[in-house]
Amino acid sequence: MNLIEEIKRLKKERNAIILAHYYQNPEVQEIADYVGDSYFLSEIGKKSEAQVIVYCGVQFMAESAKILSPEKIVLFPAYTCAPCCMENQANEKLILEKIKEYPNAKVVTYINSSSGVKAASHAVCTSSSALQVVNNIDADEILFVPDKNLASWVQEQTTKKIIPYEGCCNIHDRVKPSDLEEALEKNGPMKILAHPECRPSVRAMADYVGSTAGILKAIEDIDADKYLIVTEKGIAHEIGKRYPDKKFVYLNMFCSPMKKIFPETIYEALNELKYELTLPEDIINRAKMSLENMHYYANKK
Ligand code: 13P
Ligand code: SF4
Repeated sequence: MNLIEEIKRLKKERNAIILAHYYQNPEVQEIADYVGDSYFLSEIGKKSEAQVIVYCGVQFMAESAKILSPEKIVLFPAYTCAPCCMENQANEKLILEKIKEYPNAKVVTYINSSSGVKAASHAVCTSSSALQVVNNIDADEILFVPDKNLASWVQEQTTKKIIPYEGCCNIHDRVKPSDLEEALEKNGPMKILAHPECRPSVRAMADYVGSTAGILKAIEDIDADKYLIVTEKGIAHEIGKRYPDKKFVYLNMFCSPMKKIFPETIYEALNELKYELTLPEDIINRAKMSLENMHYYANKK
């Protein structure tokens, strides 16, 4: 049996689409209909007329697709549970307590969080939509949950008051300025492109800070011979395809929850409608508004 051909056949038969994040295993990115950052994938999931969405990412991303399109079958073909390390750093109870502390603030929650936390929030955001969501939401004080690094990056660019939460991505936050200095010493001068989940001292050394999609675009916009990429190294696959003639250096940043999906599990998912993701109806109903608000505020002029 030719696995890829079978996946293509099943996709047609089931009226399915495959979405994959840039951090996914290369062979998964190759099978996907759409590869992108969290915001792009959430837009595609919402707009698509497919009956079945095979979501190749981490759990919160697949959950967000289900919340936005509860009538669709969402398959999350991870062979073991794949939560992002930020998903459990905030919980609904803590958010509700914080809201009491800051009664005038609105809660903007990074999409890398549980559905319960999204349900307790006014709006969700991704790294590529965070600034627009914060600037367009009708409040001057924002309780920003859970990534303190993304919160401080937004604070650097807005006049609104950002009240950060204490979470972070361990993979991005672990990187220190000395790691960048070491890479520069070893490889010579490079333009530095970093994800906003990095700590402020690392971001301060970067020539560009933005989402995974933003980093891919920045390579086109910032001319250089060599680039230091400060985000998860799964992005190397798309970078290599788009920019075969440029040189890139990656740090040892590896997100294991992103690597639990394989062509074999995608095939099983489509063949048996296995790995279906379900959520309680009340969570879907409560979290839907905050995800829809993200699209509304991100596109508001
Ligand atoms: P992007 O939205 O930039 O793709 O980021 C997702 C993520 O999990 C970064 O660690
Ligand atoms: Fe979550 Fe970090 Fe992995 Fe992104 S890189 S999915 S924030 S653990």
